[in-house]
Amino acid sequence: GLPELREALAERLARTRGLVLDPDEVLVTAGTTDGLRHLLGVLPPGPVGVEDPGYRAAVETVRGTGREVRDLPALAPVDDLAGCAAAYVTPAHQHPLGPPMPAAHRLRLLEAARRADAVVVEDDYDSEFRYDVAPIPALAALDRDRVAYLGTTSKTVAPSLRLGWLVPPAHLVTAVCERRAATHDAASWPAQRALLSLLRDGYVDQVVRSARRTYAERAARVVAALAPLGEPAGPPAGMYVTVPLDADRAQAAQDAARAAGFDVPLLADYARGSGATGLVVGFGGCTDAELDRALAALAGAARG
Ligand SMILES: Cc1ncc(COP(=O)(O)O)c(C=O)c1O
Repeated sequence: GLPELREALAERLARTRGLVLDPDEVLVTAGTTDGLRHLLGVLPPGPVGVEDPGYRAAVETVRGTGREVRDLPALAPVDDLAGCAAAYVTPAHQHPLGPPMPAAHRLRLLEAARRADAVVVEDDYDSEFRYDVAPIPALAALDRDRVAYLGTTSKTVAPSLRLGWLVPPAHLVTAVCERRAATHDAASWPAQRALLSLLRDGYVDQVVRSARRTYAERAARVVAALAPLGEPAGPPAGMYVTVPLDADRAQAAQDAARAAGFDVPLLADYARGSGATGLVVGFGGCTDAELDRALAALAGAARG
């Protein structure tokens, strides 16, 4: 990645995530899944633990490298990673259920990873969007030798920018860089220059501040409108609210939203062995008017 961009990202990570790094430890990627792929390329063989329910693109990326996915029940402490090369988690905001990982679970996960000699992969996809309190510092700040940190511009700037960053555990930085150099697998240079300008101009900080206010307001509206359907699974944060529901009610609500022209994903689509069911109501990529129409459709389904 561009040296100036890596410096700007290192400064930002120290300021916002408590991660104090040398810019040479920050690798610019083409987004979260790209960073995950680069990391997996240098790890020894073995399955990867992934939260269940969890991020579907991470599951597909792990499988795409020929590795088996092992289910880690989301929100439960992880004590056993025997045989795993890595464990992929979303500690700031469990995706898609929502709660942050409690401090005691963080320590247990790190301990399990040390025992198994596995890497913990921290996907910090939307920690900018805690509305009430400052986000808890990154898990990677607790153990730089054990945790790989993944960040993205997909939530703060745009998913189509295809830029993110990977901070591998210190002893893997050289291996990842060498493999990328050998395969010419670099992130787009013009996109990196554009992101550097957006960071230097203060645009990213400004957008995050104003989007955080918008999302806080929208999350409150979503929670209120969905109250007749059910309680959200986690505290309001980010740009989606997940409501656990039995499978039939979730399906009926999705059908009603579809009839009104909206796609509201089922929680079941993020679940593997856990069989979790409900609705994942995203509100980042719509207008306020569209959100109101979608919520009216969902509320209508709740009334039956
Ligand atoms: C859990 C999670 N991680 C990461 C991302 C961003 O991925 P990428 O940077 O590959 O666009 C998303 C966005 O949808 C997400 O939901």
